[in-house]
Amino acid sequence: MFEGSYIVEERYDLWSLATFKPNKNIPIHRWFYFKEGFSRDLVVMLLQELGVSRGCVVLDPFVGSGTTPLACMEEGFVGVGVDASPLAVFVSLAKTRIYDPVELREALDKCLSTAPQHPALPDGLSPTVRRAFPRRNLEELFNLKEAVDEIEPKGPRIFLKLALMNASVKASYIFRDGSVLRFVKRPVPPLRTIFRRIAQSMIEDVNRVKFKCGPAVILQGDARRLNQIEDESVDAVITSPPYLNKIEYTRVYEVELEIFFGKKVQDLIRSYIGLVGREAPRVIPGLEDLPDSAKLYFSDMREVLEEMWRVLKDGGKAAVVVAGGVYPDRVVESDYILADLARRAGFKVEKIRVVGKRVATSGRVHRIGAARESIVYLAK
Ligand SMILES: C[S@@+](CC[C@H](N)C(=O)[O-])C[C@H]1O[C@@H](n2cnc3c(N)ncnc32)[C@H](O)[C@@H]1O
Repeated sequence: MFEGSYIVEERYDLWSLATFKPNKNIPIHRWFYFKEGFSRDLVVMLLQELGVSRGCVVLDPFVGSGTTPLACMEEGFVGVGVDASPLAVFVSLAKTRIYDPVELREALDKCLSTAPQHPALPDGLSPTVRRAFPRRNLEELFNLKEAVDEIEPKGPRIFLKLALMNASVKASYIFRDGSVLRFVKRPVPPLRTIFRRIAQSMIEDVNRVKFKCGPAVILQGDARRLNQIEDESVDAVITSPPYLNKIEYTRVYEVELEIFFGKKVQDLIRSYIGLVGREAPRVIPGLEDLPDSAKLYFSDMREVLEEMWRVLKDGGKAAVVVAGGVYPDRVVESDYILADLARRAGFKVEKIRVVGKRVATSGRVHRIGAARESIVYLAK
């Protein structure tokens, strides 16, 4: 099956654009550090390359921290984002609303006027959450969370919830070590001080950024079944699915998911792409020899590509950022496989642009190949 030959272009100079790092200094984009994200500048570049005109509809079915729809609002496109994770949906929603800074300042003052208290901690709090904070910050967190939950209207409430979520991580022992969540006991500042500082700097960002379009549409959903999106209603797709064999990416946000969304990671896992624990994958001809997790990943991605095809208008374009999967005995070439699946779904594969290459070794010495990170360009 995987016989396709494609135009392959090497552009390693674009590597950093495929990471979240450049967003760390950009107003609003920096409101939530999402290691799995790509950069605003990548989206701006792709919008130009895909040739979409202002006002067109651009979908990201794996919206993550909202980079695509937020960049769309800045550049004058209608952004639509979908994600399976309630955390990602919330962050994307909070970053793509249009706020009134006066209203935000009043809401912040109201929250901070609540006296610090020491409420009883909620029943059923997991040991993970208890370990993540010094006791006084954990109590203050539930105190401030209650104050934020009471804020009306919804806009300032969402905004302050995101500010509190960010502040809570800075006032905790949380240390995200790659895809592992660890706790490191160290002196941490009082939550209230950090919350004030973060909320104020986010309000400054709101004053700085002028949108050309918006707000974006953000939906909780499954990229394999985009039920809320009509046939042929989208002009372009810019997206980056979860990477193959990076199954632990949800665990690093375990604390936020429990405190702010009342969700345990294990309850969510079934809805994520490529995560094991679901029914056996449908085997795709030509992929019988892959490890099970790769079979599952690509059978999921086939459904995603079919959905992208359905919702795109005739002549619509897509750019999909993917990375090779590293297994103990091999590297799986996700870009070529995805390109072939896309071709089978009806797309023309315009080119594959390789932006990164990571040498993969087994047991630290034996070189088993190079895992490419690539952008696959598609046209309907
Ligand atoms: C690599 S991240 C996307 C990052 C995004 N480009 C950004 O800049 O923030 C992949 C996202 O896919 C989401 N995801 C996983 N399975 C999904 C599914 N079945 N449907 C929709 N989203 C899913 C994850 O929750 C995660 O937010």
